Amino acid sequence: MNSSDNALLTIEGKTYSLPIVHGTEGERAIDISKLLQETGCTTLDLGYKNTASCTSRITFLNGNKGILSYRGYGIEELAEKCLFIEVAYLLVHGHLPTATEYDHFRNLLNRFSLIHEDMIHFFDHFPPSAPPMAILSVMVNSLCSYYPEMNDDLTTDIDLTAARLISKIRTIAAFSYKKSLGKPLIYPRPELPYCANFLNMMFDNPVEPYTVRPEAVAALNKLLILHADHEQNCSTATVRLVGSAGVNLYASIAAGINALWGPLHGGANEAVIAMLEAIHQDGGNFQKYIDKAKDKSDAFKLSGFGHRVYKTFDPRGKIIKNACDELLAVLNVHDPLLEIALRLEEVALKDAYFIERNLFPNVDFYSGIIYRALGIPTNMFTVMFALGRLPGWIAQWKEQQEDPRSKIGRPRQVYMGEPARPFVPMSER
Ligand code: ACO
Repeated sequence: MNSSDNALLTIEGKTYSLPIVHGTEGERAIDISKLLQETGCTTLDLGYKNTASCTSRITFLNGNKGILSYRGYGIEELAEKCLFIEVAYLLVHGHLPTATEYDHFRNLLNRFSLIHEDMIHFFDHFPPSAPPMAILSVMVNSLCSYYPEMNDDLTTDIDLTAARLISKIRTIAAFSYKKSLGKPLIYPRPELPYCANFLNMMFDNPVEPYTVRPEAVAALNKLLILHADHEQNCSTATVRLVGSAGVNLYASIAAGINALWGPLHGGANEAVIAMLEAIHQDGGNFQKYIDKAKDKSDAFKLSGFGHRVYKTFDPRGKIIKNACDELLAVLNVHDPLLEIALRLEEVALKDAYFIERNLFPNVDFYSGIIYRALGIPTNMFTVMFALGRLPGWIAQWKEQQEDPRSKIGRPRQVYMGEPARPFVPMSER
């Protein structure tokens, strides 16, 4: 790079000057948008390890320093001082809501919390073993048929659209859980705030009334805030890519839900618990699993460890670990999996394999232990992640739709197949 803010690239003796784009937190990106046109070359970047697919004003992440902020506010402060709904508003609108804006948003959440009664029949047609993530993506995709008015210029009244989606997804998630148990549906209650309402819909029962504990509400609120956005991760990039084709918000979010499901992404929270349970049943032999994770002939990886961007502690993981300790103490829960997780982390962090590769616990390592303490079953963990991530997906989708420079996402490839060859008729093959 030279001092005039350009990068110089030489191909076959010819030098090209590529502009450098500066982010507000000091990030630098080489703008290659004219590369193909000027040089005839594309770039090859498997897994997009080096590629910024957009500019964004929503979330900042520094993976080397472990910094995460939404719209300029540090995640630590937001998790400590905000309600999830305030953070959702912040992500979508770019500013924290005033008291009036907050009341308006809350009223909308209440007004739109029901789903069309016909949609409830959908649940009856899934087999009892259907994964809740499959149900969630189907139901979200279906919303555009039941609420077609939500397809009209969604960006003009984003408050309405965001409230409808955030509220209805919560209802869908809780109903799918109740249906899976064959228990009566518990409808949202207007007097309850977002997180308390969700817990009540999940756990209340006509014959065993549920008492919403403030500690449980506080833990859930924190978890949802910490999951609310994470710049261009796999599911968010999916929402943007699908949205770039001009498809509606619901279909774009349904695509994001499917991407989140993967065990390398949001599905890791379920995979962590499965791994900790396996270790528990194996007599607590966590060293065996560390060795398996290091063995290159074994596909096993330590779930909840490692991250594409963080090369130090995931700041969300630190907050979740503390919240986990607090919640388990106050609920007087003794989860043997927490003990195993703590020992696993301790050993991994001292192991040369993990140190050399900068592998630290990520957001999913301890979140499952909190969900378990709240009574949420393992197969609902990734649904919980989706509830949290929804405001981020909406904000990112909106930002893309409003960006006049936005183009359909269409990566290139480098073809490595057969070179051109003559066709052979079937009789001669
Ligand atoms: N256990 C063992 N080894 C690991 C792990 C792990 N959890 N994570 C990475 N590594 C190793 C890789 O094998 C690789 O080793 P090598 O250099 O000898 O080939 C090296 O560390 C670099 O890892 P990559 O796979 O190249 O990193 P990438 O950025 O592509 O993947 C990912 C990141 C998918 C998160 C990976 O760390 C992983 O699979 N972790 C476990 C699954 C998980 O927890 N996912 C949740 C992530 S957070 C989220 O999405 C919400």
